[in-house]
Amino acid sequence: MRLDLLIHSAAEAVCLTEAPQRGPALGTLNLVPHAALAVRDGLIVDVGPSAVLRRKHRAERQIDASGCVLLPGFVDPHTHAMWIGDRALEFEQRIAGRTYSEILAAGGGILSTVDQTRAASVAQLVEATRPRLRRMLAHGTTTCEIKTGYGLDLDSELRMLEAIARLQRSMPMTIQATFLPAHAIPREHAGQPDAYVDEIVGRMLPRALTRWRELCGKEAPLFVDVFCEKGAFSLAHTRRILERARSLGYRLKIHADEFENLGGTALAVDLGAASADHLVATSKREIAALGASSTVAVALPGTPFGLAQSAYTPARALIQAGATLALASDFNPGTSPCESMQMAIALACRYLRLTPAEAIAAATINAAAALDLAHRVGSLTVGKQADLIALEIPSHHHLGYRYGTNLVKWVLRAGKRVGRG
Ligand code: NIG
Ligand code: FE
Repeated sequence: MRLDLLIHSAAEAVCLTEAPQRGPALGTLNLVPHAALAVRDGLIVDVGPSAVLRRKHRAERQIDASGCVLLPGFVDPHTHAMWIGDRALEFEQRIAGRTYSEILAAGGGILSTVDQTRAASVAQLVEATRPRLRRMLAHGTTTCEIKTGYGLDLDSELRMLEAIARLQRSMPMTIQATFLPAHAIPREHAGQPDAYVDEIVGRMLPRALTRWRELCGKEAPLFVDVFCEKGAFSLAHTRRILERARSLGYRLKIHADEFENLGGTALAVDLGAASADHLVATSKREIAALGASSTVAVALPGTPFGLAQSAYTPARALIQAGATLALASDFNPGTSPCESMQMAIALACRYLRLTPAEAIAAATINAAAALDLAHRVGSLTVGKQADLIALEIPSHHHLGYRYGTNLVKWVLRAGKRVGRG
């Protein structure tokens, strides 16, 4: 077969499975030792032993991957990668003992990022975000989600959507947008959450979807998300927003149980959300409900770590219940200022008690399922987009075990070199 590219002589290829991995199936790696992978027209057309593929195919270009492990590019299904300013001083306040929720209640936290983000043009939002996406790529992330949520008024939220659309077109990554006007109650509605929810439901949700389709085409998917938490949006508010969004044609996501359990996870399952994210204070009943649903359970270990908290997602219980468990970075300036999925994997192995194999599947094929993209990315299987990374490690067991250095040697997106080396 005529090929565009043959990658050969890899120590191993971690192929995973075409479909997401539920419950105890998590960690099915389908390893190929001494591996090669063939690419044509940006897609994977063959994977197998190097000796076999080298005899079988003629390729215009070849990459020698000796000493490397091949993996699908990481999929990061929960980020707040677009913002202006930084919150480094808030980190120092937390070290001194103030909590995240206290800082938000006093008008800091998310709201201080909102003040700065509102003042930015679309071009400024794009240029602030681009280097962060480049760093994500350099750390092996080839698909990511970006949420709005630092505008919190119609015009500012629409500017964020437009900036995400521009990055989609100009960055060599797959980017999925999520509309998050319900990230915090903005200052102008302080003490009147009902009025802001009326605005979201009546004006912001329909206008944002129309704008998104003007920008990206009629079929372009858009997710919506709500921060269901004490001090942010109540369960009743969350239900109103998600139900309205669903009827308009959004796919649903939720921030549930990050600090307190308001019932957001049960609601997400009830409404058929694509994912429920954070899941720290989640009840046994809700864990069972997730296990019986198609809602992906997204754990964000960078967040408790970033906040120096000791409670993490009960991942083993979720796996045992049969849930589809995914990992994400939650990359944001407040709770998780880290763009690396390698770090999320290292934390998940320690605090969620995942094996490296489980964490790898959670950060690739299952993470793709949280974005409805598992049919295109997330595994090294024939027909998927040729998004893959080479890690300078002798075997996949080193991922998660090692941390604090970037193990990525090179990154390919749709068969083209887009990062490092
Ligand atoms: O997922 N919890 C809400 N959103 C983010 C934090 C965003 C911020 O602090 O700026 C999170 O942790
Ligand atoms: Fe978040």
